[in-house]
Amino acid sequence: MKDFREASRAALGDELYGYLCGRPHDMNAGDVDPNELAWSRYRLVPRVLQGHAGVDVSCKLFGSEYAAPFGVGAFAADRLFGEAGVGAIARVCASLGLPLFVSEEAVTPLADIAATGVNCWLQLRAAGPIERAVRLVEHAASVGCQGIVLTVLAPVHPVPGLHPGGVDVTAHVAQRGWATIGASEGVAKLPAFPSWSMSELHTLLDAVHALGMRLVVKGVMHPADARACHLAGCDGVMVSNIGVRQSYRWAPVSDVLERMHESEATLLVDGGLRHAADIVAARVLGAQLSIIVRPVVHALAAGGEAAVNELLRGLIGELQAICAWMGAATLADITRDQLTKLN
Ligand SMILES: Cc1cc2nc3c(=O)[nH]c(=O)nc-3n(C[C@H](O)[C@H](O)[C@H](O)COP(=O)(O)O)c2cc1C
Repeated sequence: MKDFREASRAALGDELYGYLCGRPHDMNAGDVDPNELAWSRYRLVPRVLQGHAGVDVSCKLFGSEYAAPFGVGAFAADRLFGEAGVGAIARVCASLGLPLFVSEEAVTPLADIAATGVNCWLQLRAAGPIERAVRLVEHAASVGCQGIVLTVLAPVHPVPGLHPGGVDVTAHVAQRGWATIGASEGVAKLPAFPSWSMSELHTLLDAVHALGMRLVVKGVMHPADARACHLAGCDGVMVSNIGVRQSYRWAPVSDVLERMHESEATLLVDGGLRHAADIVAARVLGAQLSIIVRPVVHALAAGGEAAVNELLRGLIGELQAICAWMGAATLADITRDQLTKLN
């Protein structure tokens, strides 16, 4: 996957670039993203002479067909990273056939994003009054969203001192006079350490399903929690440590994914997926969909819609090549014994 980080840093300046990278307070200089490191340990075992005339990397999930088993994930304050913000990413995803997950802290109106025709999901924070979340669910349904992603792990910007990259993004949003999708002005103020339980999840799930949408719970890191979400009727769980933006000490997502099978939940994953090989490894480990965020935002900052298009189109091409090298007609045909891990 093309790397736009240097051009992104030049475009954004140190402070915003620092927020985008989001190094947590407990990460030392020289430490690398533990998700990226863990994915990079997987190696693929090709198969030969399998006689497939072509490859198909598309995937069917939640009643939709996507061009490939990956999508673009939620990020706050989108227009800080490029004037057209997530709207530019939505146009690319719509044209390529990839799903897009939109943060309730994005500042581009959800109706504008959905109007691109993209397969669009709204990401909500599991915090604050349930009525607020239900209102946002209704808003998402009214503009044609496919579903809701509910972030349950550290869903609210933490207390001062724990901000990703040491930057309080809410101040930037307020300074520009922007309103986010989730608030009529600025970013909705919600408790830093919210107390939601399965009871609120059930209420939200009922609201989402009543409107014909799907619900995926994001930030699930323990098989027992994944199992509970599955039994509650959630359509999927996203294994995510939120890109270790809040603590460096949370387990790498690939390690967690390896232990998730017993939950029987439909699995998605995000965090540190940087190469087509990572997406293939995630697929073999059970994730139906991989979600990518920072590389796409770097591309947006570096070169707008054209760069996002180059990045995502290139990734689909890389997946097709890997699928062929693995001797598989589809990514679903790649077997567990075609994945090894360095010690
Ligand atoms: C600038 C930025 C803002 C983010 N804002 C949100 C958010 O509003 N809601 C959320 O659930 N995750 C948010 N995230 C986390 C991402 O959705 C994702 O979980 C994380 O970045 C890991 O994926 P990556 O390693 O591909 O970036 C944000 C990430 C970044 C980089």
